Amino acid sequence: MSSLGLHPIEKKIMIFLSKEPTEPASLDEVVAGTKLSIDQVRRGMEWMKFKKLVTMTNETNTYITSNVKKDNLQIKLPERIIVEHISRTGKDSIEIKNLANSLPLERADFNAGLATAIKNGWILPKDEFIILNMSTKGNSPQENLLQRLTVEKKIKTSDLDAGELDAYLALKKRPRLLISHKETIIKVSLTESGRVAASTMSDSNSEVEVSKLTSNLLRSGRWKHTKFSALDVSADVHNHSFGRIHPLNDLIREVKEIFISMGFSEIDGPFIQSSFWNFDVLFTPQDHPAREMQDTFYLNNRIPAEQLDRDLVRKVSRVHNRGWKYKWKMNNAIKHVLRTHTTPITLRYLSDGVPTEGRIFSVGRVFRNEKMTFKHLLEFHQIEGVVTGKSLSLRDLMGLQKLFYSKLGIKKVKFWPTFFPYTEPSLQSMVYVEDKGKWIELFGMGIFRPEVVRSIGIKGTTLAWGGGLERIAMIRYGMTDVRQMYENKLSWLRSVPVCQL
Ligand code: PHE
Repeated sequence: MSSLGLHPIEKKIMIFLSKEPTEPASLDEVVAGTKLSIDQVRRGMEWMKFKKLVTMTNETNTYITSNVKKDNLQIKLPERIIVEHISRTGKDSIEIKNLANSLPLERADFNAGLATAIKNGWILPKDEFIILNMSTKGNSPQENLLQRLTVEKKIKTSDLDAGELDAYLALKKRPRLLISHKETIIKVSLTESGRVAASTMSDSNSEVEVSKLTSNLLRSGRWKHTKFSALDVSADVHNHSFGRIHPLNDLIREVKEIFISMGFSEIDGPFIQSSFWNFDVLFTPQDHPAREMQDTFYLNNRIPAEQLDRDLVRKVSRVHNRGWKYKWKMNNAIKHVLRTHTTPITLRYLSDGVPTEGRIFSVGRVFRNEKMTFKHLLEFHQIEGVVTGKSLSLRDLMGLQKLFYSKLGIKKVKFWPTFFPYTEPSLQSMVYVEDKGKWIELFGMGIFRPEVVRSIGIKGTTLAWGGGLERIAMIRYGMTDVRQMYENKLSWLRSVPVCQL
């Protein structure tokens, strides 16, 4: 610990403590000795405790105060009332019963008074009588203590001498005479390293340091002669829960930036698609299992058949009839669905305008009528990247994958053959997740089949890949349950770092 990072407040406190002979000192003593405010002292103590320059201990003391009413300065204890009464009768002895009856004392006070008078040696009991004994002139120790309390108001029990302590213990047992309470104070002392650091300081180098560079200091040139306090950038800070972008939206932004850095332009399209665009254009046969109600959300309304491009319908129906060898039906194509993937967006975009070369991407929600589990949602995001051009191959597609994943921080990738009705060959990428020590399936991809691209008029080769964004989010945020992403649990949202290195 260097003294470099010490604040002037800390320096003042340390100099005071190192000179203080009665260390450990209470906070009040530090306030008095440093002329700092109690708040400054408290704050300084916290910093120094953290830096292990001081230790703090709690000291608990018992204090006593008199419970006798304030205006009753001349307190008379029952034993005094008893002996005064006996001397007033002029007799040497008196019957106990008589005595009790003739005095305005409560039973408990009378008994305590009698016992104390005997203990003080003022009276002696003899059968049913009590006999006045020796002198009762001087105050008893208990009377003395009560007297002291009327003057001093509050006495620390550890300050009592042996006789007073006895009197205090006796008074404590008697009804309504004393109040005792405990108070805890904090005491501070320098640690060994605090003492070493303090020894290099003097009052003069605790000169005020400036923590802010202001325009005034700059303009006047006074900054040249100003002593600035050093900043301890490694100090712990409080956690603040600022408003922030949802981790998933953060990832969407990152993915979009990656695509853009790779020369792709963004496209977008509606959630509601006709089955024609969601499936038929993609050469997905009308009896394909993905088109079942259990997998796809169908909407009640259908689009009028005449709204579909006649020429395109003719070409698509022809490739289905020829390719899959069944009778393609318009009725199945005009059913509305919530898009099950983002590929219809890609195809609709490519069908208008058809660039010979191009790179496009989309990020959007898709919907699947599946059972929700820790790894499946009914509504999630898909990413899709598409490249069209003349001399493209599967190797380019795999290269693009590696580049794309590496920009997301994923280094190990492998590919697996798979099947999609609209691509040939088709691949599945698997990425290695270090934290889990596992390979995870990520994106589907392939080269669009001639049956697909010819219908929409594309001549070049078209590579495409796509898949769930939430998968990447799970890898990125180390999650085991994808539903957690949508629970909006504040503790989780706050725990996700805003920036990961
Ligand atoms: N649409 C596919 C899916 O939903 C992914 C894919 C996109 C496959 C593009 C090939 C080409 O999983």
